[in-house]
Amino acid sequence: MSDLDNILNSFETKFSQIKNKNDLQNLKSEFFGKNGSISLQFKIMGSLNVEERKIFAKKLNDIKDKLTSQIDKKFKDFENQAINEKLKDEKVDITLPIRSTQSGKIHPVSQVIDEISSIFSEIGFSVAEGPDVESEYNNFTALNTPEDHPARDMHDTFYLDKDKKTLLRTHTSPVQIRTMLNGKPPFKIIVPGRTYRCDSDQTHAPMFHQLEGLHIDKDITMAHLKGCLNYFIREFFEVKKIKMRFRPSHFPFTEPSAEVDIGYKIKNGKIIIGEGDKWLEILGCGMVHPNVLKNTKVDPNKFQGFAFGMGIDRLAMLKYGINDLRAFFETDFRWLNHFGFDPLDVPTNYRGLSR
Ligand code: PHE
Repeated sequence: MSDLDNILNSFETKFSQIKNKNDLQNLKSEFFGKNGSISLQFKIMGSLNVEERKIFAKKLNDIKDKLTSQIDKKFKDFENQAINEKLKDEKVDITLPIRSTQSGKIHPVSQVIDEISSIFSEIGFSVAEGPDVESEYNNFTALNTPEDHPARDMHDTFYLDKDKKTLLRTHTSPVQIRTMLNGKPPFKIIVPGRTYRCDSDQTHAPMFHQLEGLHIDKDITMAHLKGCLNYFIREFFEVKKIKMRFRPSHFPFTEPSAEVDIGYKIKNGKIIIGEGDKWLEILGCGMVHPNVLKNTKVDPNKFQGFAFGMGIDRLAMLKYGINDLRAFFETDFRWLNHFGFDPLDVPTNYRGLSR
């Protein structure tokens, strides 16, 4: 038997005993590696004469082709076998019931704060914040609120000590004081946040949300206040035209002061903002009182401006047709699921950071 036949025989025997990919890899090196039996035969070829070489080369190449195709096929078989085993282990039971998942919702109050903040930020307001626990000074005195003002009464305000020096802020206006004391004019801020009053019924909760606005500069007038609020209300309610009226009012920290009503009507049980002959009060505002400017070291002979304060919960109720304020704070998951907002479902008038 020639060397080549021997090689072929030995290959066949060894090949039939192969159990795994590793054995196959070893076998491949044994025959085709640098010093493998087949590779050595190719080296021998050079020492043969032309005639012998022709015959030898043909036979050797045939054997080489045969063995490599056998090896390649075996590799494929092992690979398929591995895939099949994996599939068997990973079998999916499609009759299993689905696992319930619950995605979170954005609370209408958070949603409305976002909407209002983005509307005002488009016209140059930045967002400021302050603490819920305030000093009596920032909440009342600095805001020109006299000692005998009814808001200072225990019936209206949650005091946190006997001396009535600290309290839960009754409005977001103390952040006007903090902002002006800590900076230099001009000021152009909005302040969303929690506020507290001793009050609870269908439209009042002891904790509620307000949004304050403050714009102080050298020549800010009541016309700016009107234009700013008109723009905001149109944007917020997504209507082109609104009816709006300023009613004379009184706040200790603004002079003159006004309350703002917007026109509405009820159609098919739904509230339509901007039309009709009914009026709805939505915010308080006015020109910042010179005493407030003095208290915050802003010169009232050089600077003036406006402030406003609105109830965020009330606006959320109006815009999204929610009629009981208390539900906002009951953390009832079913309610939130119904009235909450999908974090990925961007509302049409959203003008967040991406724009
Ligand atoms: N702070 C007032 C309130 O809580 C609202 C307001 C703010 C009015 C700013 C005028 C100016 O009712």
